[in-house]
Amino acid sequence: MKVIVKEDYSALCGVAADLLEQAVRAEPSCRLGLATGSSPIGVYQELSRRCREEGLDFSRVHTVNLDEYVGLEPGHEQSYRSFMDRQLFSQINIPRENTYVPLGVGDMEKNLRSFRRLLSGGETSVQLLGLGADGHIGFNEPGDALQSEAHLEELDERTIASNARFFADASLVPRQAVTMGMGDILQARTLVLLISGSGKEEAASRLLLSGEITPRWPVTFLKLHRDVWVLLTRDLASRIGY
Ligand code: F6R
Repeated sequence: MKVIVKEDYSALCGVAADLLEQAVRAEPSCRLGLATGSSPIGVYQELSRRCREEGLDFSRVHTVNLDEYVGLEPGHEQSYRSFMDRQLFSQINIPRENTYVPLGVGDMEKNLRSFRRLLSGGETSVQLLGLGADGHIGFNEPGDALQSEAHLEELDERTIASNARFFADASLVPRQAVTMGMGDILQARTLVLLISGSGKEEAASRLLLSGEITPRWPVTFLKLHRDVWVLLTRDLASRIGY
């Protein structure tokens, strides 16, 4: 595991953007795995700037997102499809048909088949990840066991409470999501975990300060991967005694 500690969030975003840019420059038609939530927003702003000002070319890149809420139409303001369109896809020169965000409405069995087909049909060069306070990665929530492949997941009360900040009311947060499985995530060549936001101390310690791998803390499965970058601020590192 390569652990990078930087002074502030924007420096972390610069490191994550560098890793994604390297993948695109090395292989202009590569596939990038993307995340939503607050953590990657600065990374997307930096990639958009590099596309606009430095000619970073996304015209042949493909993307696949980790997850989507079940029950939100793609055009819903809080769907992960519309988040990605707003934060990144409309800001860079990527053809829309090269972007894939799993669908959370309609026939979910059919949606899962199409998601699984896409995941097994190619290799992801770099997968960007955020960390849930309960240790979730994608929407793989803690439990007795984790799923390897793309599946539906019941969201934890803690995740619902945390994501309520994006909705008018906590009762409007979807209870289910479609997500890549932990096996899918571990298939990417390189993983970049950007840890940002409050309440993530225990999850970060389970990853960085313990040797244990447990489905009670899904993030600990990243220890099985041979090329994982963990990015955190100096403040968080000192709070957990890293
Ligand atoms: C989002 C995702 C989630 C988030 C996590 C952290 O696509 O897969 O695992 O990365 O919930 O969210 P933020 O960054 O909002 O704290």
